[in-house]
Amino acid sequence: MQLNRPSHTNTMTSRTSHTFEDPDTQKQIAAEAAVAYVHDGDVIGLGTGSTVKHFLSALKEKVKAGWRIQGVSTSQATSNLAQQFGIPLLTEEKDWVINVAIDGTDQVDPRFNLIKGGGGALLREKIVASAARQFIVIADASKHVPVLGHPMPLPVEVIPFGWPHTAKLIQQLGYRSVLRQRDGRAFLTDSGHYILDVAIDRIDDPALLETTLNTIPGVVDNGLFVGRTSLLILGTPHGVEISSPTTRPSSV
Ligand code: A5P
Repeated sequence: MQLNRPSHTNTMTSRTSHTFEDPDTQKQIAAEAAVAYVHDGDVIGLGTGSTVKHFLSALKEKVKAGWRIQGVSTSQATSNLAQQFGIPLLTEEKDWVINVAIDGTDQVDPRFNLIKGGGGALLREKIVASAARQFIVIADASKHVPVLGHPMPLPVEVIPFGWPHTAKLIQQLGYRSVLRQRDGRAFLTDSGHYILDVAIDRIDDPALLETTLNTIPGVVDNGLFVGRTSLLILGTPHGVEISSPTTRPSSV
């Protein structure tokens, strides 16, 4: 995939004399670095979560400065923030052409595969990622793991109808799951589905598991994002580290 990189950056590690030990600060520096990859006039996929919140906050300043961007939101939570920040949104049912989508992640492995859905927005996030020319992942260093899986359960979005049966079919693959709850009731996604959080020690073949789970009746989609990442922007204690599947980090 051709990356639309700003000329002053390259695949790199941007080191400073500061240290950024706090994960939220790492999220913030990653999110702020991502703004260099969006341009006036772009249609931007807007992910969900606390890292994306920092990105929206940075984007707000560009809108204030006169940029004419439009967002495609992946959740009600993000739509609310976009509205609050004055970021215009395209409607949900438009045939969008998205220049770049920016999203957080729960885990990212060395091959840039992801587990997403900790916030329950995985379905819309995957649709928006697949509709975008570039999919840029922003995260703090704790999200970078050698292998996807434990302690992060894999979120699987399922239709409420017959969900215990769907959970049994997942168990037949060897994985136990729990129905995600909020305030003592089943958690409902923005699309009106349930989430099964599936405990998996290590996911050695994410591509196979992603497609296998999606063949189970009742499963709408799952939180594995395989082969979708164009660029990873990681906030680390030492600064921002930018890498992509075709290049490796290097220092500048
Ligand atoms: C939302 O469903 C998730 O996929 C989020 O993108 C993911 O949980 C990252 O969230 P934070 O940025 O809050 O860590």
